[in-house]
Amino acid sequence: MPDNDLLKKARKSKESSYSPYSKFPVGAAVEMESGKVFTGTNIENASYGLTMCAERVAIFNAISQGETKIKRIAISCPSTEGTINSLMPCGACRQVISEFSTPSTIITVDGVGEFKVSALLPQAFEIQPDQ
Ligand code: THU
Repeated sequence: MPDNDLLKKARKSKESSYSPYSKFPVGAAVEMESGKVFTGTNIENASYGLTMCAERVAIFNAISQGETKIKRIAISCPSTEGTINSLMPCGACRQVISEFSTPSTIITVDGVGEFKVSALLPQAFEIQPDQ
């Protein structure tokens, strides 16, 4: 899928965001190595800490459907007048992206650019699972 189409899907999935507390809808779309695309959006809770980010919803959606590795992930946040950091994925999502990425996985951040996982999470925590 062309890069822009993945970004369009990420933008579109913001429409189903459940974010009444932050009013900050986030959308994500992942293209897996199989070529299949899965989307996700952030889902908040009155018990704030139970909130789940858009990226993890999209990735868990893919993994729960038998997918294994992320080819590309696109993330779209509301544009703000703040710094570009308000558009970047949070640390927890970077760690989860890393778990299912390869050295060539690309993260596209709407309004910012493209990154390799190693650029956003150098020396990521990893344990080699038993083969
Ligand atoms: N959020 C995401 O969905 N992804 C991120 O990487 C950062 C934050 C959501 C969580 C919460 O619903 C809202 O954005 C404000 O923090």
